[in-house]
Amino acid sequence: MADLYQYRTAPEEPLDCVYIFQCSGGDPIANLEFPAKDRKSLNAKEKALEPRGEEGELISAECPLPFARRMTFVGVGDEKCLTHAKLRKALATVMRQATKNREYQIGLGIPVRVSGLSAEESRLFALREASLADYTFDNFKSKKNEFDKIDGMHIIPLAGETEAQLEARLDTVRMLRTSVQIARDLANRPGNDLTPETLAVAAKEIADGVAGLRVTVLGKQALQKEKMGGILGVGQGSEQEPRLIVIEHRPKKPKKSIVLIGKGITFDSGGISIKPAQGMEAMKFDMAGAATVLGVMRAVAELQLPLKVVGLVPTAENLPSGKALKPGDILTMANGKTVEVDNTDAEGRLLLADALHYAEHFNPDVVLDFATLTGSCVVALGHEAAGIMGNDEPLIATLRDIGEQVGERVWPLPLYEEYLSYLKSDWADLKNTGSRWGGAVTAGTFLKQFVPDKVAWAHVDIAGVAYAEKEHNGHPKGASGFGVVLTLTYLQQLLK
Ligand code: BES
Ligand code: MN
Ligand code: ZN
Repeated sequence: MADLYQYRTAPEEPLDCVYIFQCSGGDPIANLEFPAKDRKSLNAKEKALEPRGEEGELISAECPLPFARRMTFVGVGDEKCLTHAKLRKALATVMRQATKNREYQIGLGIPVRVSGLSAEESRLFALREASLADYTFDNFKSKKNEFDKIDGMHIIPLAGETEAQLEARLDTVRMLRTSVQIARDLANRPGNDLTPETLAVAAKEIADGVAGLRVTVLGKQALQKEKMGGILGVGQGSEQEPRLIVIEHRPKKPKKSIVLIGKGITFDSGGISIKPAQGMEAMKFDMAGAATVLGVMRAVAELQLPLKVVGLVPTAENLPSGKALKPGDILTMANGKTVEVDNTDAEGRLLLADALHYAEHFNPDVVLDFATLTGSCVVALGHEAAGIMGNDEPLIATLRDIGEQVGERVWPLPLYEEYLSYLKSDWADLKNTGSRWGGAVTAGTFLKQFVPDKVAWAHVDIAGVAYAEKEHNGHPKGASGFGVVLTLTYLQQLLK
């Protein structure tokens, strides 16, 4: 991905093109930090081109000054209606246009504010999305994607923004981008490449790349010792052994203890309750929750947050075979509860249940889990928000607010006591599926049975937002890295 620079003094080589974002009726030149001597000709050029800032508008011309060859005004429409998605989309359009025109050193001036955000929040969002806009996953392509050729993004300061301020923002953005990129790259990897074994390797590599993380991997024997019937049961149909990856950040005198859990099904065929062939390939993304947690852990260590943060990634491959779990089988979980497996495709909750129970070892104040858990959640919310459930209203409200701010929305779904009756089994303490109705909340209710006492817990069902089947709202096709920025912002807020 392109390097990020602060654009203050003209580099030796002129930029290929500078993209200037504009709202309807806005005056972008006035809101960007250009040298006073250049303003006149820039203003004159703007006047001649008459950009109106309307959504989708792209007006290019020769740049009147030597700092760039061309300049392009990018319209984003009415500022009062400027959403995260609109700005992200405009950035994606810019990357496409730059690539098409073979502009590999580009300038970006983004003096527009996302509606509802503070100036600071909006600046960070715009820079972060810009830094991710040329993301592409081509690890397996002989011919690399064109996006990879965009080499440098030169950010033009906003009017009045000092060098130190912009550099600090860029540092934050570089750090966030790396974590989101890690999460996307992991989730995009196909099932034959990313297995429970190589996911554990990836966790170790992340820990090697930054100081202060320790990784322990519980293999089959350790899982047996912990009586983790859920994780073992889900993994038993595959040649690949399941694992529980534990990744710990334990500073001295931490202010709080937080456990982050991510569903790590590296491929979900459904098992004996096998899924239809159509769309099954998307189930390589069924470890997106794990990817989010690993991405967050890297940032937590890099920032040296004074919090104990432990990532738990239960990981397995859900496949049918002669050894696989069968409908009707009864598992004994780590907390001693028995579960009748009604449907082997409801595997995520089985594996998460054991991880939730294991969280107790770390005395957490808060447990968050991220999981591509149910198709129901996608039916309910589409691709515009994750579902959030839990046992602590303030925690859910906080995450909801942060989600609105950073552009990773979570929308609350209830965990009414009555849902528990949907999971009644004739043969065991619980069964792993409810009826046809309320699939997202019955899954949440199932998880709730395994949450340690007195812990504030939220479950984020990211099935609809973790990946896109095609480019969507400026998100690239494939993994989004959803949850990384949300979680990190939440952790930072805990320290305020
Ligand atoms: N990984 C799937 C959920 C999923 C569906 C994620 C669509 C992303 C997109 C999960 O393991 C699953 O199969 N859930 C079942 C549960 C059902 C059998 C109760 C579902 O949602 O259909
Ligand atoms: Mn499944
Ligand atoms: Zn699954």
